Amino acid sequence: MNKRWTSDDIVDQTGNVAIVTGGNSGIGFETARALARKGAEVILACRDDVKGDAARVRIVGELPSANVTVERLDLSSLASVKAFAERFRETHDRLDLLINNAGVMATPFVRTEDGFELQFATNHLGHFALTAELLERLVATPGSRVVNVSSIAHRIGRIRLDNLRGEKRYRRWLAYGQSKLANLLFTYELQRRFEAAGVSSRALAAHPGWTATNLQADVGIARAMNPLMAQSAEMGALPTLYAATAPEAQGGDYIGPGGLFEWRGHPKKVGSNRRSHDRESAERLWTESEKLADVTFRFGNAAPSASINSAAKSAAALSTASAAL
Ligand SMILES: NC(=O)c1ccc[n+]([C@@H]2O[C@H](COP(=O)([O-])OP(=O)(O)OC[C@H]3O[C@@H](n4cnc5c(N)ncnc54)[C@H](OP(=O)(O)O)[C@@H]3O)[C@@H](O)[C@H]2O)c1
Repeated sequence: MNKRWTSDDIVDQTGNVAIVTGGNSGIGFETARALARKGAEVILACRDDVKGDAARVRIVGELPSANVTVERLDLSSLASVKAFAERFRETHDRLDLLINNAGVMATPFVRTEDGFELQFATNHLGHFALTAELLERLVATPGSRVVNVSSIAHRIGRIRLDNLRGEKRYRRWLAYGQSKLANLLFTYELQRRFEAAGVSSRALAAHPGWTATNLQADVGIARAMNPLMAQSAEMGALPTLYAATAPEAQGGDYIGPGGLFEWRGHPKKVGSNRRSHDRESAERLWTESEKLADVTFRFGNAAPSASINSAAKSAAALSTASAAL
């Protein structure tokens, strides 16, 4: 991998449709701006219309020919996720890039309108449901990618399926770690299922190291250390952009900054901990998430994978997959 990969290296995105959740701020904003600059149609999926529109105006002010729109999406509400996906499906027959970026960090305990702990609901369950709702469009688009934005903090996470509604003790950092571990378990399991179904869609994960954004706004210590430790949001977006667009990035790759402790730097392929690769845990989380979000991943009507060239092989893979699912 080129050590100095930058957003100038993004291949032409003309004709591609990209959804960026949390595209109004921080890493999401920089991701959206860079994709728009390279010609993609970008949908900023934001919970706040005013902030979303301000971001759109900023991008279009800089790039007058950019094709950028704003759609309301509150990931902490499953009804909002379903409504967003419905509107998208009505207006688009393809989806090249789904950038599951939005997130909250170390928030005080809040239970969402659906009854879940806020960080799990926003960072994992909402994106899981969104991906399921948009799967038909993703698999119908050859070479489409799903990029889930995780964190170094996945290392402190444990999946506590018996505490997703905050029935037991709440620790805000462990809850953040859990949600970011869930992002990785979801990514790797989604990639396995894409492969089993013989489709060309890819699932990848990325993390931005330590990046100065609004994420630290309510986390005093992190905010105080930003000037010393953090890189810019433009740099923080590079791993996501690399995962979303680099031709050499493979399904199942995890991309982060290449510098010391993966805190900053240009993107490179990085590793994640053993727990994130635990298949049993990934399957349990998947089954539980489908149940909680009331969604089902259907891999039908898939665009065949380039590596699977015989129809017979494709059909065999599909039937194996449906048996396995
Ligand atoms: N910054 C870092 O150092 C760092 C490190 C590791 C991982 N990450 C990950 O990077 C991602 C982006 O964070 P960031 O640093 O760019 O922070 P940010 O500037 O605070 O951006 C977060 C975005 O998520 C949106 N969001 C929050 N809750 C939402 C909800 N319920 N529905 C829809 N959108 C929602 C926010 O919307 P509002 O503007 O309306 O609040 C905002 O657009 C997150 O997944 C985070 O966990 C960041």
